[in-house]
Amino acid sequence: MIGSLMMCVATLLLLVGMLAGIAMGIQQDFTLAPAHAHLNLVGGVLLFVFGLYYRLMPAAGSTSLAKLQGSLHIVGAIVFPAGIALVLLKGTTFIAAPIVGSLIVVAATALFAVIVFRSARAKF
Ligand code: HEM
Repeated sequence: MIGSLMMCVATLLLLVGMLAGIAMGIQQDFTLAPAHAHLNLVGGVLLFVFGLYYRLMPAAGSTSLAKLQGSLHIVGAIVFPAGIALVLLKGTTFIAAPIVGSLIVVAATALFAVIVFRSARAKF
């Protein structure tokens, strides 16, 4: 089920994000703080919570729209922070990466809104 996959990927991304936070602290170099923040929040927190929603609402979580939503969110949760890190380290030549990543994340979130509203309406 896509919800379980999302929760597994989220915990891995959260671990990577936390280890990156510890590395920043040790090196006292906070250049990558925005990439760390977005990996933890979009990849760790949001991905886990959205996956949990699908586990709590199996009727919503078993649809092909939910699979598309979860897959898009996983891709965006990696491309977006990686893109931010690329721009911070290598410059704006790589600006397309965070732009594409953020658009994937917003598209996935818009799909999630559709799924939540649909399943809320089904319960009324
Ligand atoms: C082991 C766990 C973590 C460590 C060691 C860590 C470490 C850090 C460090 C060193 C900074 C930079 C501080 C500065 O710029 O002065 C930072 C910023 C930040 N962290 Fe973490 N962090 C951890 C977990 C998390 C988690 C779980 C989240 C969110 C769910 C998070 C969200 C943020 C945010 C929003 C910022 C500010 C980013 C910015 O200023 O651009 N962190 N963290």
